[in-house]
Amino acid sequence: MRTFKMLVNAEDKLSHINKEIYGHFSEHLGRCIYNGIYVGEASQIPNIHGIRKDVVEAFKEIKMPVLRWPGGCFADEYHWKDGVGEKSKRKKLVNKSWGSVTEDNSFGTHEFMELCELVGCEPYIAGNVGSGTVQELAEWVEYMTADNVCPMSDLRHENGREEPWKLRYLGIGNEAWGCGGNMTPEYYASEYKKYATFCRDLGGSKLYKIACGPSGADYNWTDVMMKSVPAWLMNGLSLHFYSIPDWNKKGFALEFDESEYYELMNIVNYTDELLKLHTGIMNRYDPKGEVALIVDEWGTWFDVEPGTNPAFLYQQNTMRDALVAAVSLNIFNRHTDRVKMANLAQAVNVLQALILTEGEKMLKTPTYHVFDLYKEHQDAENVYCWLENENLSEGKNVPMLSASASVKNGVLTITAANCSLSDEAEISCELCGIDAGEVSARILTDEIHAHNDFDRPDSVTVKPFTAALENSKLGLKLPPCSVVEVTIR
Ligand code: AHR
Repeated sequence: MRTFKMLVNAEDKLSHINKEIYGHFSEHLGRCIYNGIYVGEASQIPNIHGIRKDVVEAFKEIKMPVLRWPGGCFADEYHWKDGVGEKSKRKKLVNKSWGSVTEDNSFGTHEFMELCELVGCEPYIAGNVGSGTVQELAEWVEYMTADNVCPMSDLRHENGREEPWKLRYLGIGNEAWGCGGNMTPEYYASEYKKYATFCRDLGGSKLYKIACGPSGADYNWTDVMMKSVPAWLMNGLSLHFYSIPDWNKKGFALEFDESEYYELMNIVNYTDELLKLHTGIMNRYDPKGEVALIVDEWGTWFDVEPGTNPAFLYQQNTMRDALVAAVSLNIFNRHTDRVKMANLAQAVNVLQALILTEGEKMLKTPTYHVFDLYKEHQDAENVYCWLENENLSEGKNVPMLSASASVKNGVLTITAANCSLSDEAEISCELCGIDAGEVSARILTDEIHAHNDFDRPDSVTVKPFTAALENSKLGLKLPPCSVVEVTIR
């Protein structure tokens, strides 16, 4: 057992945690949309207009605030007009980004918007820049949001939707430096300005335009974009960062040893430096912080489960993924002065998924449960939180503990993870700035390889936890490999 001191000052409010920090991503990739979220109206699986009911309920439970769609790489080959109108007449498409499978386009704009309405989350549309045109994207915006008489709202009416939808988040391209067109930042910045100019605010919608930003540590991309695009044309700049220690040897989700675990956690902790350095560049051009950093793809990426389609990126999810999520979300909370949205990749059956499905069966992964433990941070104020720590692996940056704290409506929420695989952490936490009367806590803990499968879907799940509160001292005994949420009122 190791002992640590901690200090939380509930009065020292540092930044607002936008609820969108707890956002998600759904791409036409493998079984994320088809046979994941969407099973079609004829399915025996309980559904609302083809959208799985159990998936909607699970998304609602974690208060999913925003969902990005339709990609990813897929977005830059997606032509939205093929996905609207009478389903039997929709053009088929070949998903060239992900395994060249044929899709029938039965999940398109109307279905995605209905999904968001059912979940109660904001839609985040990723537009096609790579193989599309300015006109195509401007018309998509018009189709979704125009409330006057115009060709695209006429088409929407013909397709059965009178009222325009409200759209806030619009991504202009995806990974323009790679699958989105292999562009230089200078070229993309010029393209971006054209698209951003002609995608207008219509109806009651006020667009929040997000430009394609850097991959990981490509600081030059951030520099060129910030230099070239004025803040009035760009609300956000995206960052993609996957926790992959070695792209040529990703390893498996279920089989790994201690050294692979530390390698991975070292990369996850590197997120902090990435955010600091990109923020530093943005501060130089935008000292008022008008342009947000949007981490719209993050998470683990392992080799696919043996026997599954390599293009479908289906991986299991263990307590290791839960710790990755817990540490990442604590880091995001601490960077919310500049980071205003983050989207885990991806929501269902792909990469670090929240949910896995098999036929009618569905399970919530350990990662899902971390989002459940952290949901009270949404739209709260990030407050001062200091923690004594210890490094777990020589030559790497793997702190044993990770924590963040926030206040909302007079309630203090602390989330913490113990990343040690062997040692309990006894934390003595001084609480300032709150009249602490009551404490309650929940925990997710198990052996590092533990996971849920379709025979034991609730093997790893959230349980009640005991925390001691005396005067203004909080006592926590975190078992190895655990994530906790503590609520103080
Ligand atoms: O999430 C999988 C892929 O990773 C996305 O399509 C792409 O944007 C990124 O490279």
